[in-house]
Amino acid sequence: MAKLTDQTRASLRRRSRLVAFGRDAEFSQGFVNVPPFRGSTVLYPDVATLKGRAQRFTYGTRGTPTTDVLCSAWTDLTGAAGTVLLPSGLAAIVVALMTALSAGDHMLMTDSVYAPARAFANKMLRRMGIETTFYDPTIGAEIASLMRPNTKVVFTESPGSETLEIQDIPAIAAAAHGAGACVIMDNTWATPLFFPPHAHGVDMAVEAGTKYLSGHADLLIGLVSANADWFERLHACVHLMAIPAGPEDVFLALRGLRSMELRLREAERQALHLAQWLAARPEVLRVIHPALPDHPGHNLWKRDYSGSSGLFSIVLKPASEAAVAAMLDGFELFGLGYSWGGYESLAVPVDCTATRTATDFKPGGPMVRLSAGLEDIEDLKEDLDRGFKRLRATA
Ligand SMILES: Cc1ncc(COP(=O)(O)O)c(C=O)c1O
Repeated sequence: MAKLTDQTRASLRRRSRLVAFGRDAEFSQGFVNVPPFRGSTVLYPDVATLKGRAQRFTYGTRGTPTTDVLCSAWTDLTGAAGTVLLPSGLAAIVVALMTALSAGDHMLMTDSVYAPARAFANKMLRRMGIETTFYDPTIGAEIASLMRPNTKVVFTESPGSETLEIQDIPAIAAAAHGAGACVIMDNTWATPLFFPPHAHGVDMAVEAGTKYLSGHADLLIGLVSANADWFERLHACVHLMAIPAGPEDVFLALRGLRSMELRLREAERQALHLAQWLAARPEVLRVIHPALPDHPGHNLWKRDYSGSSGLFSIVLKPASEAAVAAMLDGFELFGLGYSWGGYESLAVPVDCTATRTATDFKPGGPMVRLSAGLEDIEDLKEDLDRGFKRLRATA
């Protein structure tokens, strides 16, 4: 590591880059990790430098050596022109929207969107004079028919984080760009490791780093990467708003980055194993996982994605609320809680039938979203099996 020449560094393959990003033994005085920088004040050597802000770091809200490393690593992985960091995934969505929208604009937002992003559009953006139309996530190129002269943003999330519809991002991007709109994507599920967003036409890509970048359910961070058309505007917006990610969270996210590919591959393997096992269970009506051939978006997923992560949903055969609660309440390994992408498996009941406005989503039974963790797969199946027994035993 200490001996890595610039030439070798430039030729490294992705897995090696994940290990090497930003590490400089001389800078870190031999310690392996890039240290966390904390601070508000940055000192200047003289008045002329201070007045001209003529040095790399100028104030705590405007970046530190640690944030620089994480931003440049993410820029490399996503294939962007630049990246900014925010204190949560939702803040990253908000900043991307604030970058591209002004009063009087119109936005198209996928009906499968993460619910708090929908709430931001319906409550805050509406108050600011920005109108949102929700669209069928599977619309593809036909989105052109929904574009208005003032449509400035097409917001995508693929797959949807509860219902896992795969969107035809290249077709949507072509239609949006044809009408002069910006394409924003929530790419948290696939991460840039399984879906390089900008190569598929996305202008600004959001990642809730709280999930797989962290991998340990112990931090909150959001990242927005942007292509050359949008990075300057994104950068200006985030500095006007001054909402930096916390220094310890940036440090931990950078630590998580080193093992993200291995954790993601393992989550993918665990989730696929569980999905196939669940599909054969008599209590399960349907497994919703894009890597399974019966998923309606499977061919699109195969065309555009190089992997699937650990998050998927199941639809149970009709059962009472009490029976589903008995199943979930008694889990010993699957935790009951929001978020996902950590090392521990999670389960949450989900019901998006009431929130959808553009599509009529009728799963046919109660839905449960699962995030596969790193536990032994046999233990996870036994936990689920005991859960199914409680489901069957409760009226
Ligand atoms: C798809 C998706 N995007 C964004 C977020 C928001 O991330 P955060 O919890 O860091 O605000 C979440 C959180 O669950 C999510 O599932």
